[in-house]
Amino acid sequence: MTARLLTTTRSFRRRLDPARPVRREDLLECLEVAVCAPSGSNRQPWRFVVVQDPPTRLEISRYYRKGFEQNMSGRTPRPDQLADLASAQYLADHLHEMPALVIVCAVGRPPSGNDRLLTSFYGSVYPAVWNLLLALHDRGLGSCPTTAHLAYEQEVADLLGLPFDEVTQVAMLPVAWLRPGPESLPRRRPASEVTMWDRWGGA
Ligand SMILES: Cc1cc2nc3c(=O)[nH]c(=O)nc-3n(C[C@H](O)[C@H](O)[C@H](O)COP(=O)(O)O)c2cc1C
Repeated sequence: MTARLLTTTRSFRRRLDPARPVRREDLLECLEVAVCAPSGSNRQPWRFVVVQDPPTRLEISRYYRKGFEQNMSGRTPRPDQLADLASAQYLADHLHEMPALVIVCAVGRPPSGNDRLLTSFYGSVYPAVWNLLLALHDRGLGSCPTTAHLAYEQEVADLLGLPFDEVTQVAMLPVAWLRPGPESLPRRRPASEVTMWDRWGGA
């Protein structure tokens, strides 16, 4: 069961049901799983802003869409990327309809000039993001990790009253109940192709 949850937790977009409300209690129970994630020195730097207010979701969605369009502009997708891009476009078009947007933050600003500290900064929050995605899926909710709104991080911080100089937004997770649909395995290169033994390149 565990392996199944791990391998079928996808970036859900089209299966997100905008019509069905998501209760705070359900979100909080999933967030309780998120905060079981590891972090450097057990700092637990994660903070979550759950946005359910429709006008605020709409504003965030506008910034998301602008960021998404900037990401897409000038890109020529490979044929095998077209379906993923159509799915991502769908989310950009429907984000404001999603019942909850979870903005995942890290206390502090990204340290500059020290790669090790930078790794620890982001690496101490993303395990919580993944735990949250798993916990949501486990109870029939779905989400997709996104970062497109971060092109407008300052604007969204201002909108939410979030102190930009002290707190960094690292992801935004739209959350909704999942419509029925087939479970699909992710398209990934097998571990055997990306694993080396004893040294870089070692077979
Ligand atoms: C750090 C990160 C940022 C991402 N940003 C976005 C995003 O802004 N918009 C989006 O639609 N998907 C985003 N994704 C989802 C990826 O596109 C998705 O995980 C990938 O295509 C694999 O899809 P799958 O998980 O369904 O197999 C992001 C994923 C990660 C891990």
